[in-house]
Amino acid sequence: MLERLRCGVIGTGACGLAQLSSLLHCSQATAVAIAESHPKRAKEAADRYRLSRSYTRYRDLLDQPDVDAVLVAVPNDQHLQVVIDALTARKHVLLEPPLALTVKEATRMIEVARKTKRVFMVAQGLRLNRQTQLARQVIERGDLGEIYHARAFWVRRAGIPRIGSWYTQRRYSGGGCLIDLGARILDACLYLLGGFEVKAVSAVASARFGPRGLGESGWGGGEIDPKRPFDVEDFGAALLRLGGGRTLMLESAWASQAGAEVREQGIDFWGTKAGLSLYPARLFRSGDSGHETVNLNLPLAWEDEDPVHHFVRSVIEGRRPLVGLEESLQLQRIVAACYASAAAGKEIKLEG
Ligand SMILES: NC(=O)c1ccc[n+]([C@@H]2O[C@H](COP(=O)([O-])OP(=O)(O)OC[C@H]3O[C@@H](n4cnc5c(N)ncnc54)[C@H](O)[C@@H]3O)[C@@H](O)[C@H]2O)c1
Repeated sequence: MLERLRCGVIGTGACGLAQLSSLLHCSQATAVAIAESHPKRAKEAADRYRLSRSYTRYRDLLDQPDVDAVLVAVPNDQHLQVVIDALTARKHVLLEPPLALTVKEATRMIEVARKTKRVFMVAQGLRLNRQTQLARQVIERGDLGEIYHARAFWVRRAGIPRIGSWYTQRRYSGGGCLIDLGARILDACLYLLGGFEVKAVSAVASARFGPRGLGESGWGGGEIDPKRPFDVEDFGAALLRLGGGRTLMLESAWASQAGAEVREQGIDFWGTKAGLSLYPARLFRSGDSGHETVNLNLPLAWEDEDPVHHFVRSVIEGRRPLVGLEESLQLQRIVAACYASAAAGKEIKLEG
C-alpha cells in the first residue's frame, strides 16, 4: 500500500490553489508539481507552495513517473482532454465539477476511466459535508417517513464569476449557474434521496443581471475577453419528476434580489413523518405541543469532509469513492435535460 499519494495539480486558478492548500494539510499526500498554462500564475503558485517543478504544458506533468494522481481544476471545456490524457497516463484523477460540457464527453471520460482502472472522482464536496452525511443517516433510519417532495437551491445575490471570463461564455463553460451551483446542490440532494433516477424535467433559464454587467463576485482567475460576452444563464430553475410520484424543485442563481436573510444554499425534504432542512441541519415534526424544530447535533469533524482528503484516502486504501461515476454521468444527463427543456419551453422526459 502507498504511504503517501504523490499528486500534481493541473490549473492553479481559484480552485487549483484551494486544492494545493488541501494537499498541504493532508497527511497521506504530497504535492509534487503543478501544471498551469499561464506562466505568471504558474510561477506564483509554485513560489507560494514551494514546489520545484512547475510546467506550462500539462502533458509534461503527466510524463512524470513519480506523480500517482492529478487534481484537475481547469475550465470546463478542457476537462475532456485533460482527464482522458491523465487517465491514459495511468494517473488517478480528482476533477472539479462539472464532469464535462456534454453527456457525450462525460460518457467517453467514464469509458476511459473504466478501461484504465484508475480512480476517477468528481469533487462533489457537498456530499461529503458533515451535515449531508448526518442527513443521510437520519433519512436511512426512516425518521422522515416517505419523502414525497424535496427542494434544492443555491441562490446568490452577487455571485457571477468574473464577467467575460470562461465562466460566462457557454462554449467554454457549458452553461451558467445551473451547471455550476445548481448541479452541485442537486448532486447532494439526489444522493440523499438515494438515487439519481429522474423521469422528467421542466426547466427555465435566463440572464437578468450578467448582460447588464451586474451581480459580479470577482471569482475565477482566468483571462477576460475584452468583448465581455455573457451568453449563459444567471438564473435557472427546474421541476424534476422522480419515481413514485415524488418531486424535486431546483433553484439556482448567480445573481438575484433574494433577501439577505434567506439561506443562500439549502436542501429541504418533506416527508410523511417529519421534514428535514439543511444547511443548517434541522428536523421538523409534530410533537405533543404542536410543531417542533430539532437542531441536529453535528459531529465535530469528519476527516473525509474535504474532497481532496477523501480522494487521497480512497486511492491509498483501495476504497470506492463516495461520488460514483454512474451518478456523475446521470447528473450530467439531468443538467442537459434541464437546458433542453429551457430551450424548448416544455417538459423533457429522460430515458431509462
Ligand atoms: N467544487 C467547487 O466548489 C468549484 C467551485 C468553483 C469552480 N469549480 C470548477 O473548478 C474548475 C476551475 O475553476 P476555477 O474557478 O479555478 O477557474 P480559474 O479560471 O480561476 O482557473 C483555471 C486555471 O486553469 C488554467 N488552465 C486553463 N487551461 C489549462 C491547461 N490546459 N493546462 C493547465 N492549466 C490550464 C488557467 O490558466 C487558470 O489559471 C472549473 O471546472 C470550475 O467549474 C468547482
